[in-house]
Amino acid sequence: MLIDAADAAQIYSIGYVSRFVGEPAPEALDDLLSRSAAYNSRVGITGCVGILRSDVMQVLEGPQSAVVDLFRKIQIDKRHTDIAQTFALNVRARHFADWSMVSLPFGVVVGMVDQIRRVHERP
Ligand SMILES: Cc1cc2nc3c(=O)[nH]c(=O)nc-3n(C[C@H](O)[C@H](O)[C@H](O)COP(=O)(O)O)c2cc1C
Repeated sequence: MLIDAADAAQIYSIGYVSRFVGEPAPEALDDLLSRSAAYNSRVGITGCVGILRSDVMQVLEGPQSAVVDLFRKIQIDKRHTDIAQTFALNVRARHFADWSMVSLPFGVVVGMVDQIRRVHERP
């Protein structure tokens, strides 16, 4: 995974929820995840995604420009809808440093998002 000096100093993180348009087939999900992991590792993005039937919750973290660019693409992806950003903030360290994109149980992602917001959002 690529980590440059600027990245080490400042990591930006975006979280959002959305809904797949129809429940995706397991092969389609595997394909999406492996393509995502490959792209993310090229641009220094790490994160997690929780999928429960059609519900999606994803966290992206990395250099701000890479995260913003990717989120722009994700927002116009026709495979999902009702995309709502839940947070966007600078974090001091990556929460998913070892994963270019890891699929976790939905409830685990909900808990992680809750923790990230509690730790990093100003009151
Ligand atoms: C729920 C969801 C999560 C996604 N997460 C990522 C991701 O982490 N990384 C990624 O490269 N693409 C992700 N994508 C795919 C992007 O929306 C987009 O298809 C991909 O970046 C390729 O864009 P391009 O066709 O402009 O190259 C995701 C798509 C969906 C529907």
